[in-house]
Amino acid sequence: CHRKGVHMIQISPSVLSADLAKLYDECAAIDAAGADLIHLDVMDGAFVPNLTFGAPVIKGARPATKLPFDVHLMINEPIRYIADFAKAGADLISVHVEPDYPISGTLDDIHFAGRKIGITLNPKTPVGEVAAYLPRVDLVLVMSVQPGFGGQSFNPVALEKISALARMREEMKLSFRIEVDGGITAGNVAACIGRGADTIVAGTEFFKNSAALLEAARGAARNL
Ligand code: DX5
Ligand code: ZN
Repeated sequence: CHRKGVHMIQISPSVLSADLAKLYDECAAIDAAGADLIHLDVMDGAFVPNLTFGAPVIKGARPATKLPFDVHLMINEPIRYIADFAKAGADLISVHVEPDYPISGTLDDIHFAGRKIGITLNPKTPVGEVAAYLPRVDLVLVMSVQPGFGGQSFNPVALEKISALARMREEMKLSFRIEVDGGITAGNVAACIGRGADTIVAGTEFFKNSAALLEAARGAARNL
């Protein structure tokens, strides 16, 4: 068997491309469209140059679906808000490795809150920066755009990082998921899956072209 991955492929549409004024209905629609997770982009206007929403908004959308909430925190001091996001109904909480805050204590807080732990890195951040955390995380989120905005184009540096993480996972006998986020399209999703990504975030493409995206992802999964 040439199957590289250890997980089924999951699709996590980003609500950043949805109508946020109708977040509840949009979450229900994402569920009905056959997604596996819902990706919620939390931005603080400091770590990234954009503001979105926080835990109270996520709590409001929580009853719309049983799908797991995949919460991507693009904020400078995530340690201050882990309990809030856990209580609001986050199932997986991903924190960036770049800002200066107690990362290890934050991962502990996510664990003690009973949620899945994600660590994430920007396109310019080398995978070595997350190496020490790999034994403790459920998922590594590889950014394929500089975070802050939807609708940017995919940076192929992410492909090398997905491959490197898949190798590290095998060598270290771990089973974390590898998620990729930013500029994913029906045209590049197969390359990500072929390299070892198993959790696919898509904003723009999901809302514009979901049938083609899902078909391309399924095709790539069959070829593993
Ligand atoms: C970027 C966000 C992404 C974004 C993806 O800062 O983390 O999740 O919403 O949107 P697309 O798929 O349009 O690049
Ligand atoms: Zn994201």
